[in-house]
Amino acid sequence: MAKEKVIILGAGIAGSQAALELAEDYDVHIFTKSALLASNSALAQGGIAAAVHPDDEPLSHYRDTLIAGHFENNRKAVRLLVEEAPHIIEELRQAGFLFDCTPNGKLLFGLEGAHSAPRILHAGGDQTGLLLTRFLHDRFPASVKLHTYEMASSILLDQDGHAAGIRTFTTKDGHCHFYHCDHLIIATGGAGQLFGNTSNDASITGDGIAMAIQVGAAIRDLSAIQFHPTLYFANGRAVGLVSEAVRGQGAVLVDQSGRALMAGEHPLADLAPRDIVSKVLFRAQNAGCSIFLDLSKVTDFEAKFPHITAMLDENQEPFRQTKKIPVQPGAHFLMGGIATNLSGQTSVPDLYAIGEAASTGVHGSNRLASNSLLEAFVFSKRAADQIKRTTISHKKMAIIPKKDCLSGGVSLPERTLLQEKVRQALGIERSEESLEHLLSFLKAYSFPSCQVVDSDTLERRNMCILAARMAENALTQLRQTEIEMRS
Ligand code: SIN
Repeated sequence: MAKEKVIILGAGIAGSQAALELAEDYDVHIFTKSALLASNSALAQGGIAAAVHPDDEPLSHYRDTLIAGHFENNRKAVRLLVEEAPHIIEELRQAGFLFDCTPNGKLLFGLEGAHSAPRILHAGGDQTGLLLTRFLHDRFPASVKLHTYEMASSILLDQDGHAAGIRTFTTKDGHCHFYHCDHLIIATGGAGQLFGNTSNDASITGDGIAMAIQVGAAIRDLSAIQFHPTLYFANGRAVGLVSEAVRGQGAVLVDQSGRALMAGEHPLADLAPRDIVSKVLFRAQNAGCSIFLDLSKVTDFEAKFPHITAMLDENQEPFRQTKKIPVQPGAHFLMGGIATNLSGQTSVPDLYAIGEAASTGVHGSNRLASNSLLEAFVFSKRAADQIKRTTISHKKMAIIPKKDCLSGGVSLPERTLLQEKVRQALGIERSEESLEHLLSFLKAYSFPSCQVVDSDTLERRNMCILAARMAENALTQLRQTEIEMRS
């Protein structure tokens, strides 16, 4: 009997782990719109949080996750996350993945913001995401079919409203293709590229979430965006991330006069939860301060952070002389996304979402550092388990739209203009006025569901779809807060 077919969109850690879980029993196809390694997972520096130190325990990890998330987390999801964490680490080590260790083989634990204990496992110093992603890719059996440089443009449903396939185009020549499937998994990451200054990979334009919106999938907390306090800035633009682990090693956020910006702002000072640090820095910037990470107290910086060192060197940053890195907050992570249960199921039957594209509610309103790679592992395994438990009783027939408008019907803003409008409205501090301004700006354009076969146009359309939904969600939240404050 032919194996059931699973299509996975995205090859970061969530998509890749799901593929590995399903490879033996299913006909697995992975689609990426660019190179296989182009993902946020591969850029993750800090590591993966897990209470595996003998003095640590999942309960402490649980508490830290809730405190960072302002207790708005789905507690069941958090419990699963922290309890599964030590098993995930054990499995990875058993499979041969090498986390950084002391010379006598003891695991090294990094410290990041809002963790009450050093519990971040890392690899290659600051290259955990890249090494983990490669490790998973290297384990793909030949049966996993990789469709790189092929961008999914829409989800196809069957006559019962079940996910039943995708429409794609090859990014080099715009050739359109249709694929049927029994199960569809969205693992395309968040939407950091909606902002000009982001830590995210260039490919992260919210494509999977936009496709899910177009088939009516439930969406949750879409305006819950995390801003990382320390993106490295050169020539006025964000170049990349400077991991929170650098502050875990003693770096201090200072202004141009050397004043410690987090002193007196929070008991954890530089290692306060990310949203708190970012807000303090944002206000300092608005008051005219320049912001730096002072490295004076960090020993062996270059050995501990080889990737960051290479980024600074590529940009001729004189950090060895100044002992400082110029930084600013920038868009980093989407806590909201496609609403799922704890098995990755969306409101559309046979459509799953995992990783940053999904919203299980695990992160609350502010994700705890280094819980994202962990989330990718935990919930991709659970989604794969759910697929294995699901019986597809009949051959599904994806409905291929007969009439499509042509991409000529689409009118879209330039990417940088859109990013600037999004920054003004959906940044660290928001107002009804700026959100309404973004919505009326978007009204001047038209982004209908129609056939688009070039990636730049499709990305901008997806970004517009998300920007509109994010602004609506943020407006609703602001208004609700106002009502609550008045009553
Ligand atoms: C970092 O290394 O600062 C980022 C890790 C994360 O996003 O949790």
